[in-house]
Amino acid sequence: MKVGLTFNEKRPLLGGRNGRGVSLPEDTYLEWDDAETITAIAAALRKRHDVVLIEADERSVQAFRREEPDIVFNIAEGRFGPLREAEIPALLDSLGIPYTGSGPETLSVALDKAWTKRVLRQFGIATPDFLVCEETDYYLNGLTFPLIVKPLWEGSSKGILDKAVVETPQELRKQVKFVLERYQEPALIEKFLPGREFTLALLGNDSSLEVLPVVEINLNTLPRGAHPIYSYEAKWVWDTPKSPLRIFECPAKIPYTLERKLSHLAKRTFQVLKCRDWCRIDMRLDEKGEPHVLEVNPLPGILPNPEQNSCFPKAARAQGMKYEELILEVLSIACKRVGLSDEVSRTRHYSLR
Ligand SMILES: Nc1ncnc2c1ncn2[C@@H]1O[C@H](COP(=O)(O)OP(=O)(O)O)[C@@H](O)[C@H]1O
Ligand SMILES: [Mg+2]
Repeated sequence: MKVGLTFNEKRPLLGGRNGRGVSLPEDTYLEWDDAETITAIAAALRKRHDVVLIEADERSVQAFRREEPDIVFNIAEGRFGPLREAEIPALLDSLGIPYTGSGPETLSVALDKAWTKRVLRQFGIATPDFLVCEETDYYLNGLTFPLIVKPLWEGSSKGILDKAVVETPQELRKQVKFVLERYQEPALIEKFLPGREFTLALLGNDSSLEVLPVVEINLNTLPRGAHPIYSYEAKWVWDTPKSPLRIFECPAKIPYTLERKLSHLAKRTFQVLKCRDWCRIDMRLDEKGEPHVLEVNPLPGILPNPEQNSCFPKAARAQGMKYEELILEVLSIACKRVGLSDEVSRTRHYSLR
């Protein structure tokens, strides 16, 4: 088969601006993939297929037309705004080219944390109480401290610094202002959940949807005095190759009943958001020990190096699946979903028609 690999490669900003000429914060491309990840995915796919790399930008459409891949392995995070992750999938839909992972509607809803929460609530899935604010003037409407403030449509803990956990109206106002000004997007104010944190990786579709071993984010490994959250600092500053944070525990040491509950919640969330092929779902327990969904990642991070903390590959390894096998499995799941045989070479594929 001919597999296209669509991606956005992390690069230095160099005074970057968005489509409207507004200058961008320096963490703008934090969610994008580094060269090592893109190379590792391409190498995994090349074990069984022809691979063509297609960078996700305004030239992608010509590249898809020229290359005519049988299927695309999509890890493109997109460039600007709340619909950025949906751009490549929507384009591929319009060209009739199948791809791995969720469709544009799921990617847009999942990137917007409040939309995700509204959909989950509609289906009776627990998620912390919240409020969206577009200005520093807001009414808390019953929300009580401590709270956490996040940018509405970012990932990789962008804008979720240690100081995102707030205890007073003054701290809250300061943090909301920080999000509004820095990211030029609304702020999500959410009830802070004090319990244990888990993330669940899912693979498959429909009746063959599978939950990989639960990963616990062990917040006790954070430096003394830090708020117990998997913050920007925890992901990008305190965790270095020289002194890595041993922050993941997989499989999580949890009672069977809790594991069942988390798994069920993860599967329901996957289904109601119409996720496809794979997804990672972040959860946290409230003060009573009840799990809530924090957010949904239909384009999960997949750093190849086991030394780097990356939850999805970690959960796959705990299941006995190597990085390469994980990548090929995602492709195979997508091929099955769209009715494409991933064994067949492109030439053979055509001569069969
Ligand atoms: N309501 C909450 N209560 C407690 N901790 C939270 C809450 N929301 C987020 N966090 C903490 O902040 C981290 C990042 O938040 P998350 O919503 O997962 O954003 P991102 O998309 O950047 O991963 C979580 O892993 C968790 O540790
Ligand atoms: Mg998260």
